Amino acid sequence: MDIIDVLIQQHRDVEALFEAYRAAPDDERPELCVRLAEALTLHSTIEERWVYPVARSVVHGSRIDFSVEEHGEMTQLLSELLHARWDERRRETTVRQLEAVVAHHLAEEERDVYPRLRKVEEGAFGLSSTELARSASDARREALRQLAVAAPP
Ligand SMILES: [Fe+2]
Ligand SMILES: [Fe+2]
Repeated sequence: MDIIDVLIQQHRDVEALFEAYRAAPDDERPELCVRLAEALTLHSTIEERWVYPVARSVVHGSRIDFSVEEHGEMTQLLSELLHARWDERRRETTVRQLEAVVAHHLAEEERDVYPRLRKVEEGAFGLSSTELARSASDARREALRQLAVAAPP
């Protein structure tokens, strides 16, 4: 499994969480909001730290600037979602907005960015897919710390 396969698997995991959210009864949805925030924050952190710097050498830099802006938009919506997760009406509206932004972002990455990254030597990323998986646990802790800051007590 190379680095791009790990990233694509994370995209599928995020989509599975949205599906689980839709299938879940109302009382389980607040917890799924936290899991969505964790998975998305983890993935964005990995991309911004190890993947996008390399991507700038294979796609136009402005394309990556735009991707970083979209991550910012997702972070904003996730923060709103965590604050609104016990308010059914606000939560449902925010989840719908978030899912639209995420679906668009993931599809564009898989169409325009990831295929070009397949041609890059794994060494260029500064870590192997195994190390990436290990580093993900550090990024996960960081993501959880950020969530703890964003979430109400
Ligand atoms: Fe991304
Ligand atoms: Fe991604």
